[in-house]
Amino acid sequence: MWNRLKRAFCQRYLDVLASVYIYNEHRGYTSLDRVLEAVCARCADNSAFIAEVQKHRADERKHYMMFKRYYELRGTLPLSVDRTCGHIDRFIERIFGCTIDDLDTDAVIVRPELFEQLCRVIMLTEQRGMKQVEILLRNRIVRSDPTLVRIFKIIERDEPSHWMPYHGWLVAQDKLTATWRERMTDFWIHKSLMLAKLPSLFVNTATPRMARWPDADEVVLA
Ligand SMILES: [Fe+2]
Ligand SMILES: [Fe+2]
Repeated sequence: MWNRLKRAFCQRYLDVLASVYIYNEHRGYTSLDRVLEAVCARCADNSAFIAEVQKHRADERKHYMMFKRYYELRGTLPLSVDRTCGHIDRFIERIFGCTIDDLDTDAVIVRPELFEQLCRVIMLTEQRGMKQVEILLRNRIVRSDPTLVRIFKIIERDEPSHWMPYHGWLVAQDKLTATWRERMTDFWIHKSLMLAKLPSLFVNTATPRMARWPDADEVVLA
């Protein structure tokens, strides 16, 4: 009885965790398409920076595919979580006052201060992701699932290369790498996700599963 309860607890914990991750990975690579557009327009002569953002986008898609495979092997779809579980969604909303979908790419391209702000938000989000994955790899429940450990080890390896390009670009331009307000916002978003959002998702067993994969309509070019 106790073992059954413990197993159910761990399975739910991992299900919530993987569902939140797959949402964030998908959000990450789809949003990076517009970041790439802005980087190509603003830094057309900086091919190294453009290549790093392209690699960042490819990595986030790879992470998404790893979690998708994880669920395919389990024969189920992830829990249907929305943008309230997205660190980058909440960060953009707090800093830019609009959703990611409503973010004006043209304004980001023509206004340097918005482009710099976007670089800082991505950098802080990725630094947060790097710290989080280190914590998760020490977590006993995560360690009980060898497939998830393999996935998180790949994410851990990739993560530094996701924030360094934006940090490097800001430093090279002699710009601030983060404001006090941005650091506090990142901190509070993380706390509210960990202490309120995720526990409420864990206990809310009525949360439905996705009806289809988020990338179901994507056209993948060979
Ligand atoms: Fe990722
Ligand atoms: Fe990342």
